[in-house]
Amino acid sequence: MTYKTIIDCDPGQDDAVGLLLALASPEEIELLGVTTVAGNVPLELTTRNARMMCDLAGRCDMPVFAGCSKPIRRELVTAEAIHGETGINGIDIWDPITPQQAEHAVSYLVDTLTKADDASITLAMMGPLTNLASAIKKAPSIVAKIERIVLMGGAMREGGNRTPSAEFNILVDPEAADLVLNCGCPIIQMGLDVTHQVLSTRERVQRIKGLGNSVAIATAGMLSFFDSFDTKKYSSEGAPLHDPCTIAWLIRPELFVSKRCNVSVETVSDLTAGHTAVDFWHVTDRPANVDWVYEIDADGFYDLLTERLERFGG
Ligand code: RIB
Ligand code: CA
Repeated sequence: MTYKTIIDCDPGQDDAVGLLLALASPEEIELLGVTTVAGNVPLELTTRNARMMCDLAGRCDMPVFAGCSKPIRRELVTAEAIHGETGINGIDIWDPITPQQAEHAVSYLVDTLTKADDASITLAMMGPLTNLASAIKKAPSIVAKIERIVLMGGAMREGGNRTPSAEFNILVDPEAADLVLNCGCPIIQMGLDVTHQVLSTRERVQRIKGLGNSVAIATAGMLSFFDSFDTKKYSSEGAPLHDPCTIAWLIRPELFVSKRCNVSVETVSDLTAGHTAVDFWHVTDRPANVDWVYEIDADGFYDLLTERLERFGG
């Protein structure tokens, strides 16, 4: 199965690995374009970082579109403490060859989806949902053209990672998340409950590094930096590799377990803004709006990632 896909991201080391996994998997992922959003670091950096990953993968032809530089109505919150000043600390920075397209990401999403057949485009969302929410507000009819949204965001049992009750992607733009989660498209949602099961342990990073090609070595470098913050915070062996889970689901959905649930977003309270209320036990009459992913075969995930990164050695 090949999915016509657009990746929306805020690289971030984990977004970067998600892009590389997608670019290594053309049989499953026909990547039409990459849109970037402000999140882990400001927009100029997330866009540069996405272009660097296209260079690294030998895909300087990949259209990269810069999107929203701040949330719909809130001030931007960033995460340099976790990702480093560049957003992808762990590798040297270069001025990418892959060009930034002139079109704004929101216009690109509207134009591409408007022209597409019904239910024909997959969106892999790896950052705050500002671009997609803005596109839907601008042209609500594009919703019918989306086959599925696979998104990383939210949390249930794991609590928050940026505030006690909110996961970063949803916290940055709760209003955008609320609009997207209620847009009516099929949504597969990967929260911290599943991404905290895929820890980039030393052994897994060494295995990737041992592949020896430039993409694998860069991936290992980024993961080694990315580990530093979360291993201290969670005293875990390795950091959760959040965003590549969205791409792994498209390639091997059998690695995951999910349940239809209602997920609602807190947009009013200052204390719990961005909290995702996951009605896992159906204790309310709120209609199910997502497939909530809560389990993963972590070894199978890293086997897939390693096998696909090895393809860059040719
Ligand atoms: O909370 C984890 C999410 O926030 C990931 O997408 C990470 O890249 C950051 O954007
Ligand atoms: Ca991200």
